[in-house]
Amino acid sequence: MALTLNVNGKDYTVDVEPETPLLWVLRDNMGLIGTKYGCGIARCGACTVHVDGQPTRSCTTQASLAVGKKTVTIEGLSADSKHPVQVAGSSLRSRSVAGASPARSWPPRPCSRSARVRPTPTSTPRWN
Ligand code: FES
Repeated sequence: MALTLNVNGKDYTVDVEPETPLLWVLRDNMGLIGTKYGCGIARCGACTVHVDGQPTRSCTTQASLAVGKKTVTIEGLSADSKHPVQVAGSSLRSRSVAGASPARSWPPRPCSRSARVRPTPTSTPRWN
């Protein structure tokens, strides 16, 4: 079903099911990835956008409920990305990416001797 949503002052027409969470329409259909997924149950606030000026948890809001309204995401707070929320978000992303990189390395470095990978005769790693 085609829905037309006004996001950050621009009209987007997307072909999605009306009950699709607004969060996924923003991210997957519009490429506005500043709105984040956290808990998915309207608890953490990572997905918050403004719909007609009201803070709205986009993870639990159907996209069809934003039709005819004005939605603002973090990208829409200012054109030059100088809004304090955008600056804070950028700073947090930089730190989290830098801080998370060691955790993404593979294989993970064990923190104790008992957690080390011990090769087996089949060369399949296993954790002990
Ligand atoms: S993802 Fe946590 S409130 Fe929406």
